[in-house]
Amino acid sequence: MPQQLAIYPGSFDPVTNGHLDLIQRASKIFGHVVVAALRHDSKDPLFTTAERMEMLEQATSELPNVSVDSFDGLLVDYARDRGARLILRGIRAVSDYEYELQMALMNRQLSSEIETLFIPAAEQYSYLSSRIVKEVSRLGGDVSALVPDAVVARLRAKHSNL
Ligand code: PNS
Repeated sequence: MPQQLAIYPGSFDPVTNGHLDLIQRASKIFGHVVVAALRHDSKDPLFTTAERMEMLEQATSELPNVSVDSFDGLLVDYARDRGARLILRGIRAVSDYEYELQMALMNRQLSSEIETLFIPAAEQYSYLSSRIVKEVSRLGGDVSALVPDAVVARLRAKHSNL
């Protein structure tokens, strides 16, 4: 049976152009893509869940088959609740692969009917991460070419209030 629904999970703290590129490409392959932000992230996010979701919603507003949600607990439980059998993850470099494979195999162990698909990141964003964007922005660097417009002002506001 063809899979129409795919879940793209992550912290998205904040969404970057690398994430957005993957979402755009996935939206051309799957009938519906749910971008799901992890609510209680042990990495202590800079942005609240509501802020991360708002930025994702603004960045994906022109993609009609993409929706934004948040989740807690096990990703496979969330995917099952949504009726999804596909999880998408971006791979930027070989160094991502080990951790991503570990997660994918653990998820398969937890729920064998859910499959993880890896999508290579766009070359021009292969060095990009939310962590590095936050650091550059905090130190006053220009990140406007690295994140969607919706994120630039939010980062600026966040860092001027710190
Ligand atoms: O953007 P990130 O931080 O790389 O995303 C990681 C995420 C949210 C996909 C991962 O931490 C996750 O799935 N967390 C939910 C908890 C879970 O299901 N853990 C078991 C799989 S290892």
